[in-house]
Amino acid sequence: MNIWEQLPTPFTVLAPMEGVTDVVFRQIIAHAGRPDLFFTEFTNVSSYASDKGRANALERLQVAPTDPPIIAQIWGKNPEHFAECAAALQSLGFAGVDLNFGCPDKHVNKAGGGAAMIKTPDLAVECYRNATSSTALPVSIKTRLGWSDPEEYQTWLATLLQEHPAALTVHLRTKKEMSKVPAHYELVPEIINLRNQISPTTKLVINGDIKNLAHIHELHTKYPEADGFMIGRGVFTNPYCFTDIRPTRDDLMKLLKLHLRLYEEYENSASRSIFADGANTKRPSPVTTGARERSEKRYSHIPYDNLKHFFKIYINNFPGAADLRAKLMETHSVQEAYAVLKQAGEL
Ligand SMILES: Cc1cc2nc3c(=O)[nH]c(=O)nc-3n(C[C@H](O)[C@H](O)[C@H](O)COP(=O)(O)O)c2cc1C
Repeated sequence: MNIWEQLPTPFTVLAPMEGVTDVVFRQIIAHAGRPDLFFTEFTNVSSYASDKGRANALERLQVAPTDPPIIAQIWGKNPEHFAECAAALQSLGFAGVDLNFGCPDKHVNKAGGGAAMIKTPDLAVECYRNATSSTALPVSIKTRLGWSDPEEYQTWLATLLQEHPAALTVHLRTKKEMSKVPAHYELVPEIINLRNQISPTTKLVINGDIKNLAHIHELHTKYPEADGFMIGRGVFTNPYCFTDIRPTRDDLMKLLKLHLRLYEEYENSASRSIFADGANTKRPSPVTTGARERSEKRYSHIPYDNLKHFFKIYINNFPGAADLRAKLMETHSVQEAYAVLKQAGEL
């Protein structure tokens, strides 16, 4: 039985978010209250397929003990590379493979990937077929309604459903709409009909502007035939969004400290040798087998400044929060952040 068939109804999912839902942040969410399913940030299949890019790809594909069940999300435009990357994912501990056909980033689209696939449906289908034929894992797809007109969903989603993916996540906007307009919930009943007609076994996951578990319950009442609900930016407002818990200041401060500790742990292990044979290099030279590389935690591609984006999640809405956050934003290392917290009496 594949993972999509083992999930409750409705099931909850943390959206893949590049630069956010990495191996450390997923552990924060697991600590606060995990969804039924995690996704990784997306990983480029051609990076994985190249000697030069594989170490970085594998770093993105690290799995923490609290992650499973977790789906690896991949993107690209080269069908052979989809096959090669999908084939490797099972041995890396993933429960499924998800193909990103919805990212609106201009660099990704220029490279022919993400939402650009909406414009090349034959290529999208070829990439999907290559991925499915090379792995025993269930293969799912995450996409948008279309490129510019929400009504494109009728042909685009139909094309994808004809391949009978294990699951289809629909971010209820077009590529052109980015995240600037409200998600098109008015189309959910028609999308459910389309799924029921073409591929009733495909799990349908709804995504766009979902805030928290209470909101998911509301949506489930309204659309009982949607199987799952995915939350992305809602975690920025409330990292406990997959639970009924209303976090206190203390809960959030503990999450911040956990985040700093885990960042440090992964960052430090990145500077140690990651090779069983003891080769000591911070920027690992590429190797051809993934297994040897995955034996240790690594966190070399996330600069400390990226960590600062998370501070607002934890330090918000209490007297002195803005001041404390401003001080933390001036720091350049975890050690400096600890010093600021100590001075503020938080450590
Ligand atoms: C910072 C950021 C990074 C994202 N990275 C990815 C990604 O790697 N893969 C993907 O499929 N979608 C990505 N998305 C889109 C989200 O998965 C989700 O579809 C979108 O944010 C809408 O859901 P929301 O309204 O709940 O945030 C990203 C979104 C954000 C805000």
